[in-house]
Amino acid sequence: MNILESSHILEKKEQKIEFQSDLLGWYDQHKRTLPWRTSPNLYKTVVSEFMLQQTRVSTVLPYFKKWIENFPDFESLAKAKEETVLKYWEGLGYYSRARNLHKLSKVISNWDDLQTDGKAWLTLPGVGPYISAAIVSISFGKAEAVCDGNVVRVLSRIFGIKEMFKDGATAQKKIRPLAQKLITEKRPGDYNQSIMELGATICHRQNPLCTICPVLSFCSACKEGNPEKFPKIRQKKKSKKKVIRFWIVSSSGILLQKSEKKSKRLAGIYELPEEQENFCFLKEVLITQKKRTIGNTEYDESIFQAKIEKDIVEKGNSLQWVKWKELDNITLSGPHRKWIEEIRTISK
Ligand code: ADE
Repeated sequence: MNILESSHILEKKEQKIEFQSDLLGWYDQHKRTLPWRTSPNLYKTVVSEFMLQQTRVSTVLPYFKKWIENFPDFESLAKAKEETVLKYWEGLGYYSRARNLHKLSKVISNWDDLQTDGKAWLTLPGVGPYISAAIVSISFGKAEAVCDGNVVRVLSRIFGIKEMFKDGATAQKKIRPLAQKLITEKRPGDYNQSIMELGATICHRQNPLCTICPVLSFCSACKEGNPEKFPKIRQKKKSKKKVIRFWIVSSSGILLQKSEKKSKRLAGIYELPEEQENFCFLKEVLITQKKRTIGNTEYDESIFQAKIEKDIVEKGNSLQWVKWKELDNITLSGPHRKWIEEIRTISK
């Protein structure tokens, strides 16, 4: 099925030009001042796009600032140790992004000529169609359209796309050709950023600010009075998972578990330990319970005070004693640092 209904006004060339011009005019006036937009360069664009995948701007801002202070260019990042790189990513999640960005900087530092073609960028670690299009449009003026969650929302409303998509990734894949039809050759990087910016600041998932939308006159969903009904993406049932973790401390340190290299999401990152296969911790009292959602899973994590009978930290074991004074130097996953600080405070 062709999702672009031929009856839509944006099929007409003059209307498309007006749409691009309205969107860009609005962007020029209202775009947020963001550190990767002021005196932009390729490196800042790459870092910001890696960080912004799956993460909102307000969360990214402090990380971006520290990152640029410590790794100001591809060369300095390429030379850094992986441990240091992960430390600067601590709390942003999806750590494979940091590892891929590190690998990518090594490849780029070795390039004799800068590649400006989207296909060349697609071969680099962690670069999919979204990042590739964002980079070559913003940095090299190539008319390659991005299609992230924001763009899917904006375009499915503009065109009133009735198709039910089985998930977000499918929606992006199917809507990408439509995004490509709308991009302007003149300012492709700004155009891509303007449509994402519209999604982030006006065309909200709920309560979109239609009255101040610069492209309201092109919007089918708004005309029908039901923008919130779009995009139509099948909701996955949330799964629930209970996790038991242990608080095992001595006067000098804390027992933590370091995820194995093969763990895609968390390789090399420390967490409070979970139950082990080959022995038991001696559970004492329940200290606290924490709920959080990662992707489509709701986690309910119980943290128990516990003891170990003998020293079970052996070679090859993922458990490690970490000295209190070393705690700031390791990378802890997600909210574990906050949990540890909180429990230390209440147990003092
Ligand atoms: N989301 C991801 N990248 C973005 C950008 N460059 N501008 C606006 N929103 C974004």
